[in-house]
Amino acid sequence: MMSLTTETTLTLDFKEGIMKFVKIAQTTELMEGTKKKILVENREILLVNLKNSYYALDNKCPHLGGSLFDGTLESGTIICPRHHSQFDVTTGKNLEGAKILFVRFPVKDAHVFPVKVEGSDILIEI
Ligand code: FES
Repeated sequence: MMSLTTETTLTLDFKEGIMKFVKIAQTTELMEGTKKKILVENREILLVNLKNSYYALDNKCPHLGGSLFDGTLESGTIICPRHHSQFDVTTGKNLEGAKILFVRFPVKDAHVFPVKVEGSDILIEI
C-alpha cells in the first residue's frame, strides 16, 4: 500500500511514441476532494479525486506554467495560483482567463489525460 503523500515521483519504462496506460497512484492515496502532484518521466501530472472519480491534468498552467497543484480546488474547478485562470478539472476547459492588473486574458484549455481505475490502481494514458 502506498502512503498518503501529496507528491510522488515515478520512473517508467517508455518506448518512444507509444501511448499506454500506466499506473500512477492508488485510490487509497487521495481522499475525496483532494489533489496530488505526480512526476512521471519529468512531466508533472495533477491528479484530482472529485466525488471518487479521478481526473489527471498537465500540472503546468497553459498560460505561463504556474503549478496548478499549488492552486485552489473548488467544486471541480482548479484555480491557478499565479494569475487565477480557472479550469474545469473534468475537461481541462478554461473557464476564466488570466487576471493581470484587473484585465482577464484568454488562456488555452489545460491538457487532460485519460484515466481509468482498475481495482485500487489509478492509471493514466500517457
Ligand atoms: S500561469 Fe496560470 S494563470 Fe498565469
